[in-house]
Amino acid sequence: MLEMIADSTRQLLATGVVLSYCGFCFWIWRGYRAKQQIESKGKTNLRIVWASQSGNAQHLAEQLQQQLSAAGTSAHCLPLDQLTRKQLNNSAQIIFIVSTFAEGEAPEHARFFLKKLPTECKLQHLKIHVLGLGDRRYPDFCQFAEQLQARLAAQGATISLPLMTVDNMRASDLSEWQAHIADLFAIKATEARHYQPAWFNATLLERQCLNPDSSSPGLYKLRFKTTYCDWQAGDTVLLHPSNDPALSTREYSIASSAASGYLELVVRLTYDAKQTPGQCSGWLCQTLNIDQHIEFSCCTKPNFHAAHNHTPAIFIGAGSGLAGLRAHIAERPKFSQNWLIFGERCPRTDNILQNELSQWLRSQHLTYLNYAFSRDPLEPCYVQDVLAEQQQRLNTWLAQGATIYVCGRLQGMGRGVQEALTQLLGEEQMYSLQQQGRYRTDLY
Ligand SMILES: Cc1cc2nc3c(=O)[nH]c(=O)nc-3n(C[C@H](O)[C@H](O)[C@H](O)COP(=O)(O)OP(=O)(O)OC[C@H]3O[C@@H](n4cnc5c(N)ncnc54)[C@H](O)[C@@H]3O)c2cc1C
Ligand SMILES: Cc1cc2nc3c(=O)[nH]c(=O)nc-3n(C[C@H](O)[C@H](O)[C@H](O)COP(=O)(O)O)c2cc1C
Repeated sequence: MLEMIADSTRQLLATGVVLSYCGFCFWIWRGYRAKQQIESKGKTNLRIVWASQSGNAQHLAEQLQQQLSAAGTSAHCLPLDQLTRKQLNNSAQIIFIVSTFAEGEAPEHARFFLKKLPTECKLQHLKIHVLGLGDRRYPDFCQFAEQLQARLAAQGATISLPLMTVDNMRASDLSEWQAHIADLFAIKATEARHYQPAWFNATLLERQCLNPDSSSPGLYKLRFKTTYCDWQAGDTVLLHPSNDPALSTREYSIASSAASGYLELVVRLTYDAKQTPGQCSGWLCQTLNIDQHIEFSCCTKPNFHAAHNHTPAIFIGAGSGLAGLRAHIAERPKFSQNWLIFGERCPRTDNILQNELSQWLRSQHLTYLNYAFSRDPLEPCYVQDVLAEQQQRLNTWLAQGATIYVCGRLQGMGRGVQEALTQLLGEEQMYSLQQQGRYRTDLY
């Protein structure tokens, strides 16, 4: 009898052990399944990644995200420089919308992406669609989009649509891309709009030649009265030469703070090979009359807005590049540390806005003001030479968290500054400044 009780207890115990073991296995399996489901869900995650210098690609990416979301498909939208290796590994599909800048290169914020992408990062799981924004008047049309697609494909990604390109934000190119995307995601195609806020009206109040004795082409400051005041330092305006919508737009940096109550531009009068004045600069600097109206549209430039108000700022520019820096300097808070390095040709005739800059220096609104005159008979130099001369100050300011702002022509000045900084600071520090939004440019 005792033996029988002991046997049934043993049987019960054994069944208990087996059941517990099964339960334990089931628990492990459920955990594993849940993890797998999360991972596979993660992999179907769609991302929209943009690289943009002047905002077009970013705007299209955000517009597409909204369109997909309205159709019930959620997508994570982010800039290319923030796309991590982990995100690349757990994405199933990525739509890239990238512009090309500066002779076939990536926009500034995305300059290091391909360099930093490890070649051993395998992308067999990833489907990509690349849309390139560019302008056929540049020889390297949409070259960065091509490079990006080729590199991702070389690392195993599948190209689900052939590379599509948009020339100068042409509506027909955008519609074609929209139709493909709509097809791919089974959604309704909508009109991809070239983002442009409403046009507003302004009246020319004053025009002043800033370099009347110069042998260089004229540089003019234009002051407009307008009720529009919705811009930030770093933004630009678009206008059609002669207010004629049949003529394509030109872009100008806004040279004044909105708080000043005026919209100001600093415009270089350009000439072509036959000495004919440029269509737009000729109109602005010579033909447009005082009291005449002009239609503008404001272009917001998040990449060139102010970064951190309380850390020092280093402003570097030449010629008309002073325009985009002037609005920033005017808006810097009291007691902030501001260093301007400004380049022009001749110290005697091209010392533009001299009174205003010296006043800023006297009042210590500018902590330092360095000039670089390329045709100075005594000490000819460029802005990038000042950086090399002042390397110690540069390092100290950067160690204090300074942001660098560069504005003006890309050829010569913009390139020269980038090369000099890379040489002085090294690629890694340039990369880190860029990642932290502490190297901001508006180059043209
Ligand atoms: C972001 C940015 C900011 C700028 N800020 C300033 C500034 O603050 N001050 C300043 O002086 N300049 C600035 N510029 C340059 C300015 O936009 C003009 O390029 C410059 O004034 C010359 O224009 P233009 O019409 O006088 O010369 P044009 O010789 O008539 O034209 C210059 C360029 O405009 C384009 N263009 C000309 N005709 C046509 C056409 N029919 N259709 C399409 N495109 C055409 C071409 O690319 C041509 O190379 C900036 C440019 C950019 C991109
Ligand atoms: C200074 C400058 C350089 C440019 N370089 C190129 C180029 O090399 N190749 C090209 O296809 N487009 C070039 N573009 C045209 C831009 O790619 C095009 O305007 C695009 O719509 C900008 O998109 P984003 O606003 O997203 O940067 C350049 C534009 C500027 C202002």
